[in-house]
Amino acid sequence: MARLRDLSKAKLIAHESIPNKVHVLLAGSGGREHALAWKLRQSPRIGNLWVDPSANAGLRQLGTPCPQSLEPRNRFHLERFLEKESISLVVIGPETLLEQGMADALAKPPHRLVFGPTRAAARLEWDKAWCKQILRSANVPTADSRTFTSQQLDAAIHYVRSRADPLVIKASGLRAGKGVVVCDTPLQAEQAVVNVLQGKHLDSSGESVVIEERLHGQEISVLALVDGQTIWMLDACQDHKQVGEGDVGPNTGGMGAYCPTPLATDEVMRFVEREVMVPTVDALRREGITFQGVLYAGLMLTHSGPKVLEFNCRFGDPETQALMVRWQGDLLEALWRTAAGTLDQANISFTSGTSCCVAVCAEGYPGKPRIGDVIEGLEAVDHLSTPECPVVCFHGGTAKNSQGQLVTSGGRVIGATACAATLQQARDLATHAAQMVRFHGAFLRRDIGNRVLTRLQS
Ligand code: AMP
Ligand code: GLY
Repeated sequence: MARLRDLSKAKLIAHESIPNKVHVLLAGSGGREHALAWKLRQSPRIGNLWVDPSANAGLRQLGTPCPQSLEPRNRFHLERFLEKESISLVVIGPETLLEQGMADALAKPPHRLVFGPTRAAARLEWDKAWCKQILRSANVPTADSRTFTSQQLDAAIHYVRSRADPLVIKASGLRAGKGVVVCDTPLQAEQAVVNVLQGKHLDSSGESVVIEERLHGQEISVLALVDGQTIWMLDACQDHKQVGEGDVGPNTGGMGAYCPTPLATDEVMRFVEREVMVPTVDALRREGITFQGVLYAGLMLTHSGPKVLEFNCRFGDPETQALMVRWQGDLLEALWRTAAGTLDQANISFTSGTSCCVAVCAEGYPGKPRIGDVIEGLEAVDHLSTPECPVVCFHGGTAKNSQGQLVTSGGRVIGATACAATLQQARDLATHAAQMVRFHGAFLRRDIGNRVLTRLQS
């Protein structure tokens, strides 16, 4: 699946060789970061691995919590710490840190590289209205849309009333997956517009709203490593955003994902590379912005071809859990080369077969989850794992209580992740593992992959 495309001659840094030992800081505290840390730990080059001060219990088993806060106001002390510990690679997981400019603040090439885009490049994710402008300027296929600011409430309502077709209403800024309302009725759309522009559900005012045509089809997540000049397409995943089996109920961060998805045929992947990734990275460059990190296109496969629903500028969660268990080769080298501008020399491939991640969630999720419940069953899951069909429980919202017991501390608690020869087998194994994880009120979806499994069966 991996494909390369050179976009220009210039390298970001003439930094061909990677040190034998690399001390790493991994920012972010959830399931995505646990999967990244798990794979980084397998690198022969990994030196000290420092993890987020708020890391979950799984991450804390793999690395040492950084004693410095990662908050922007602590950047001076954080930099001193990075220097003292000779940390030469910072890997940024969450979008909030990218929006805060963490990559800009901490990159000091060639001594210290940061995997993750600058604030300017990450705007693709934190400003949906701007992202739509970039997509339009680059002729990237996406849903038709109009943007309105908070001063244009009447015009926005007028626009919604003038549209007969179903609409999707999006708050422009980062909202942790909760800023999008897929509307069934015009009244719902109108209410959603009012909520965004009057800041009813949000902590900030002055928000813009993107009003989009509603697209239909299957959704896939295509992630690519981008070093500014080379784009390396990773195997495509399918996430399951809605909380309930059969794709019902409110959206979540993702209840499960599998990889690769057969929906992403070679033809689809070529299209996404040529018509989505390359023109987007080029359009940024025309704005004077170099994108470096992982570019994640959320796509709808419509009757008229793939269309971009959104861009994220980071690894997906739970897509990363499904990707990491199939990742072959040295993740640290791949991230380093992405940050150094030498991705064309990387060696990335995926094991054959399919992986599947099933999220085990806490009561209340995607609303306020119940926390503090003791988690049991993880050791038993370890025994399921075989060299042919590995099973890993990645931690999301977990912590240790004062008695040293593993307890729930977030909505998506564990990502039970398995690999097998087929999607059906991987899904069954991951679901079985997920059902062995026990805590009060635990729930999961047993139908991850069904959208294609039922199609394949018929
Ligand atoms: P986003 O955060 O923009 O990816 O939106 C979250 C979810 O809302 C997506 O994963 C889709 O399921 C849905 N969505 C977003 N935009 C559209 C659209 N234009 N048409 C249909 N569904 C959409
Ligand atoms: N799984 C969706 C996301 O990471 O945004």
